[in-house]
Order: sequence, then C-alpha cells, then structure tokens
Amino acid sequence: MSSDVTDILLKSLRTVDEKVYNRTDVERPTKEVFKQMGAMVTSRITKQDIDICDVGIGAGAFLYYYSTLYPEANLYGLDISEKLIDESRAAMPNCEYTLGNMDDPTHYDEEKFDVISCVGAFACLDDPQFAVANFLRWLKPGGIILIADAFNPDPIDVIMRYKLSDSDRKEWESGWNIFSNETIEKHARAVGMPIEIEWHDLPMPFPIKKTEDSMRTWTVQMDDEPHMRINGSCQILYTQCVIIRKGTA
Ligand SMILES: C[S@@+](CC[C@H](N)C(=O)[O-])C[C@H]1O[C@@H](n2cnc3c(N)ncnc32)[C@H](O)[C@@H]1O
Repeated sequence: MSSDVTDILLKSLRTVDEKVYNRTDVERPTKEVFKQMGAMVTSRITKQDIDICDVGIGAGAFLYYYSTLYPEANLYGLDISEKLIDESRAAMPNCEYTLGNMDDPTHYDEEKFDVISCVGAFACLDDPQFAVANFLRWLKPGGIILIADAFNPDPIDVIMRYKLSDSDRKEWESGWNIFSNETIEKHARAVGMPIEIEWHDLPMPFPIKKTEDSMRTWTVQMDDEPHMRINGSCQILYTQCVIIRKGTA
C-alpha cells in the first residue's frame, strides 16, 4: 500500500465533530440517547458520590446531564479534540478533563470509575479492542461501562471511509465504522475479567428530517422500526447500547 493511501486510511479524525458540537449543547434539550442511557445508569447505580467518566465528550452535554442525575459525583471527560475539551470546560468547569486517545491505557489509574460511558465515539475507532480493554481496566469492580453507537447485529465489522463528491480534499473522512455485537463481546471477554454483558436498543421516539448536511443522521420508516436512523452514505444505523458490568470476584 502506498504511504499516501496509508496516511489517508490511518487518519481517523472526524473533522465535522469540531464544527457540530459547542458549549451551547448543554443548554439544549437533553438528547434522547442520553435520557435512555441516564435511566440505564440510575437504575443500576444508586450510590451518589461516585466517579463517572464520559469518553468522547463532544462539548460536554452528557457530562452536564450526569451532573443533574448525580450532583455529588466527580465527573471526568476524555476527548481527542482540544477544541471540544475547551468547549466543554467553558460550559462545565467543575469536571476534570483529559486530552487524549481512548486507545491509550495511561490516562487513568486502574479501578478509578464507577461508570464509564462512550456515546458515538466508537465509530471513530478502527479497532475497538484497545478502548474496550482500557475501559475495563479503568472500571471499579461492580461498576458499569455503557457504549452507545451503531453496532451490527450480524457478525461483520465495517471500516468506512467517505468523501463528499464535490470536495477537493485528498483525505477520506472517517467516523462511521460499525462493529458487530459479537466483536465487542469478544474483545470484552478477552480481557479475562469477570463481566456480564447486556445489549439494549436505543430507539428514536420521533422522526428526524434530513438536512442539507447529508452525513447528519435522519430517520426513515422501516417495517419493524418507525424511525430508523440512516445517513447519506447509505448506512442503516442500528443504534444500540452495550452495558458491561465488571464483577467483584
Ligand atoms: C460523534 S462525537 C459524540 C460526542 C458526544 N459523545 C455526543 O454524543 O454528543 C464523537 C466524539 O468522540 C471524540 N473522539 C473521537 N475519537 C476519539 C478517540 N480515539 N479518543 C477520544 N475521543 C475521541 C471526538 O472528538 C468527539 O468529541
């Protein structure tokens, strides 16, 4: 493979995120996904003075929602984008932020968090095994990991690159990879810790219209799903949340 092609394939920055997310996100109505995941957390973790880490924070909207659910919690945010960390810090100054890649195990000590969440950022990874292993290392026994994204119920992993047809850019855009439920489970079990795994659909309760930016998700009606998320690259997005609980044994 030529180095040009390797560069293009290895560059896994989703450039659009820095334009889309900003500090005003925390003032907007809470996203459906956060509400559904927030309910999954509060039904499982009743202790209040806990340590919560959101990975791939965008502009901190989920951290803000956590602060309403767990006012006594210590909140941590990890993101690869300095700009988005700055946006989040402006809106949520009382959180502790780390700039870095979730693939790097050195960001946090072992057994630091009661809850680790990651919404919409696994699709930016080309190999999810490192993040899954790190999350399990950083999680306290009895804690839970919630990873929400488009996952493939069929046992096939998809690495996706796209380009706007009218763009002069040489680089292909990334950020819409889809890993199978089976692959995520395989990586979690390979860490060798006692774990329990649950999968939950994250249904969109209302329709979303297509906008001018055809890589922003919208919904279409399908037989068994009234508001199925799709995007302009012809991807059908089976949005799910995997919950991984770390056992105490
Ligand atoms: C689609 S946005 C989702 C933002 C937010 N979680 C939400 O749902 O609104 C993906 C986020 O993950 C971050 N991200 C992408 N790859 C990452 C990586 N390898 N490590 C840490 N953060 C990453 C991006 O900078 C961006 O903030």
